[in-house]
Amino acid sequence: MKNAVLEPNKSAVYESRENWPPYTYRDYPSIKPETYQAFLEFLSTENTSGKLMELQPWISICDSKCAFCYFPTTATAKVSIDDYLAVLRKELDMYAKTRYVRTSVFDEIVLGGGTPSVLSAEQMIDLIEFCKQRFTTNKEYFIKVTGSSKTLALSKIDKLAAYGVYQMDIGAQTFDDKLRKMLCLPDSAASVEKAIRHAKKLGLCVCVDLMYNLPGQTMQSWIDTLKKVIELDVEVDTYSLHVDPGTPLETMIKKGLVPPPGDAEYEKQLYLVAYKILTEAGYKAVGHDRFSRVEWHFRENCLNGWPWGGILTTGAGCFMGYLQRFSYSNIEDVAEYMAAVNAGRLPINRLSESTDEDMMRRTMTRLYLRLPVDKIDFKRRFGKFPEEVFPQQLQRLKEKGLIEIDDKEIRITKLGDIWKGNIAWEFAPKAS
Ligand SMILES: C[S@@+](CC[C@H](N)C(=O)[O-])C[C@H]1O[C@@H](n2cnc3c(N)ncnc32)[C@H](O)[C@@H]1O
Ligand code: SF4
Repeated sequence: MKNAVLEPNKSAVYESRENWPPYTYRDYPSIKPETYQAFLEFLSTENTSGKLMELQPWISICDSKCAFCYFPTTATAKVSIDDYLAVLRKELDMYAKTRYVRTSVFDEIVLGGGTPSVLSAEQMIDLIEFCKQRFTTNKEYFIKVTGSSKTLALSKIDKLAAYGVYQMDIGAQTFDDKLRKMLCLPDSAASVEKAIRHAKKLGLCVCVDLMYNLPGQTMQSWIDTLKKVIELDVEVDTYSLHVDPGTPLETMIKKGLVPPPGDAEYEKQLYLVAYKILTEAGYKAVGHDRFSRVEWHFRENCLNGWPWGGILTTGAGCFMGYLQRFSYSNIEDVAEYMAAVNAGRLPINRLSESTDEDMMRRTMTRLYLRLPVDKIDFKRRFGKFPEEVFPQQLQRLKEKGLIEIDDKEIRITKLGDIWKGNIAWEFAPKAS
């Protein structure tokens, strides 16, 4: 199975796969008074983008820390949830009062994090109600809630479904109990399955996060996990493990308690197996890491609007926020986050304002999201076609068979799908 997926001559396009594109929060500069002022001025303008937005309040709190996780979360025991929710509302209100947000329309309310399911169903519903009152939603807007099966009691799922939540995002990671134990996931594969089946029975759409290239993960274990999600009929986000500095997993690997993840070739083979099995089961690869069987999900607005739409994210440590040229992340430490909001400041710690040149490069990262780059729209916005701005990069990628270009658009090819992270990096500024 391991070698049957990719022809050897095509496997060496790049030495290893990039899983992150450029222009993520990891690259944003620390906030400066001038950029904060520019952001406030931007927020006082009208939103004329014509793009729908996503509202994403984060509950950056978890009952326990999974060994691999790089998300900036705080233990439930160290936070007063009521105080956190009060401050989160205050921050949401600060944005809701700005002209930009008052002239924006949202088509998704997503409780993210962290683990919103540490809240009671009533607390989650109150927070969603608050968002509905303060922000303008369109007619077809929908609500998503992220939950971990370790805090997702079935009765909470009942209440969320009855309230009208459309989708539950669940971090399943793997259905292999041996790997779950190693990753410090406290609940069993059977309990994850039970939560998923329950949510599905109530008519909820379920999307699970799966991770591959986990220490000691065999190809068979990965295939079994993939077959399980197909059987459960859920959407899937597949993430390649990134061993982040400072995580318990990094320490365990350094101490030799668990093996390191597989090499670049093995990682690629795991991805290709997932691509093959899932596409053969009728899934389509969409967005940055999603496999979906729901046709209209392919066209979700907040994704398709990149980089001109927006995700308004709030809460301690949130890092996926972008409003057109501005991208930001929030203060991670909960106490400092709450102090900033209580002092009347937007609790941002990193803020980036893109120049025209950055926006051209960011537009090309649509390829990473498996989205086409519309050449006519590019010319309308920047006065030039992509081929005039990035002639060498596009020529190189075309020769490698990673992209195709016609009169209207630039798209990644099937081969380009494996290398979409590397493709995005071709358009990043070269380090001097
Ligand atoms: C904020 S978590 C959301 C899920 C929710 N908290 C839960 O655990 O059910 C987002 C997802 O990021 C992925 N993730 C976290 N740390 C990762 C890492 N080091 N490498 C790759 N993916 C990671 C996991 O799949 C995780 O479910
Ligand atoms: S994966 Fe989810 S539950 Fe686990 S630590 Fe990260 S945010 Fe918390």
